[in-house]
Amino acid sequence: MIKITEKANDVIKRDKRAMATIAREPYPLVVEKGSGDHIWDISGNRFIDFTSFIGVYTIGVNCNAEVRRAIKNQVDRLMHPAFLDFYAELPVKFAESILDMMPNGFGKVFFSNSGTEAIEDAIKLSKLFTRKSYIIGFYNAFHGRTLGSLGLTSARISHREHFGPFPNVVHALYPNVYRSRYEDPEEESKACIDHIEKNILGKEYSNKEVAAIFVEPVQGEGGYIIPPKSFIKELRRLATENNILLVSDEIQSGYFRTGKFLAMENFGVTADIYTMAKALGGGLPLAATISKTELGDVPPGAHGGTYGGNLVSVAAGYASLSYVKRNARNIERMVKEKNRIIMKRLNQLRERYEIVGDARGLGLMTAIELVKSKKTKEHAVKERELVLRECFNNGLVLLGCGASAIRVIPPVTMSVENIEKGLDILENSIKKISGK
Ligand SMILES: Cc1ncc(COP(=O)(O)O)c(C=O)c1O
Repeated sequence: MIKITEKANDVIKRDKRAMATIAREPYPLVVEKGSGDHIWDISGNRFIDFTSFIGVYTIGVNCNAEVRRAIKNQVDRLMHPAFLDFYAELPVKFAESILDMMPNGFGKVFFSNSGTEAIEDAIKLSKLFTRKSYIIGFYNAFHGRTLGSLGLTSARISHREHFGPFPNVVHALYPNVYRSRYEDPEEESKACIDHIEKNILGKEYSNKEVAAIFVEPVQGEGGYIIPPKSFIKELRRLATENNILLVSDEIQSGYFRTGKFLAMENFGVTADIYTMAKALGGGLPLAATISKTELGDVPPGAHGGTYGGNLVSVAAGYASLSYVKRNARNIERMVKEKNRIIMKRLNQLRERYEIVGDARGLGLMTAIELVKSKKTKEHAVKERELVLRECFNNGLVLLGCGASAIRVIPPVTMSVENIEKGLDILENSIKKISGK
C-alpha cells in the first residue's frame, strides 16, 4: 500500500498556490524519478507505469541509457542552434532519418516543440498548399489547445468553452463501434462517411472551399476509439476525389505505439501530411510536421519558431529513433505479443465485471470503458475515478481518457511480468470498486 508523506502533500499545496490550474488525475502522484517500467514518487513509493507518461516514454520510463547519453553529450557542445536563421547538421540528419521511415514521396519536415505546434503548422500548410480555407475535423478529437488546433479539438466542452469562435472548422462524426446504433461496424463507418459526403460537402461547404480533413487514426484523448479499417480507407478516397488533403495526427498513435511507425499503416492508407510529437522527442519537447514533397514548400518567413530544431531535443530524438530503427522487428513483435496478453486480460475484465462495458486496443493503444451497466452504457465517471485512485494506492499508475475509459499504455519495453502485475492490480481495483 502506498504511503503519502508530508513532503508530497506540501508540494501539492504549493503547486495549487503557485501554478496555473491544469488537469490532474484523481490521485496525488508527485513524481521524483523513473526508470524502465517504474516511477518513484517523492514519498519513495514505487509504481508500475501504465501511462508511458502520456504516451511519451515508448521505449521505457526516462528513455534508455543511449538516449540519455546523447542528451548529455549534446548539452556540452551546443544546445540552441538558432535553427530559424542558421544551419546545423543534426536536425537535418534527424529529418533524413524520419523521412527514411515514411512512405515514398515524403520530403519535407518542420520541427517544433509540441504536438499542438505541429498541428498549427499542418493547418497553415493545408491552407497554403490548397489555397482553400475550411478544415474538417471530428467530434471527440483532440489535436491540442492553442487556438488553431483547439478549433479542431472537440473532445470535451471544458477545452473550448469561452475560447471561440473558431472560424472555418467543421466537425464530422467519428465512428464509435461500441456506442453505435448499428450492429455492423461497417454500417457505422458508412454512415459517418455518407454524412461528410452528402451533408458537409454536399450541402454546406463545397470541395472548392475545404482544404483538409484532420484525423487521428485512433482517437486518443477522446477515449481510445478505434475506427473500422473501411472508415480510414474511405476518408482517403473521399479526400482524393475532392482534392482535399488528408492529415494524419499521429502525435499519440505514431512511433510504434500501434506496432507500426505510423498508425495509418494499420489501415493501408497514406495521408498527405503527418504530425508527430510525444515519443518522437525521446523524452524532450519535440514535434514534427511531415509533408509530401509534391505539395510544395513554405515561402521564407511564412512559418517558423525560435526553438524548432533545438539540438538537445534533436539529439534525444535522433538517438531514440536510431535505437527504434535498429530494433524495429523486435519492437513490432513485442507490441503484438503484449497486445495479445493485455487484450486477453481486458476482455476477461469485460466478461467478469458489469462496470467494464468495453475492451479495445490496437497494438499497445489499449483501453477499457467503464459503464454503470452494460445495458444502458451510461458512463461510469465516478467509478473510473475510484478505480484510478485504487490502482494508485496499490502501486499502479493509469490515465483516463474519454468520458469514462481507462487507457492501458505501458512502455513497449515493459516486461511481461510487470504487465501481468499491473493487470492484477487493475483487476483487483475493479473488483473492489464494483463491489464484486
Ligand atoms: C492526437 C494528439 N494531437 C495533439 C496533441 C497535443 O499535443 P501537445 O500536448 O504536445 O500540444 C495530443 C496530446 O495529447 C494528442 O494526443
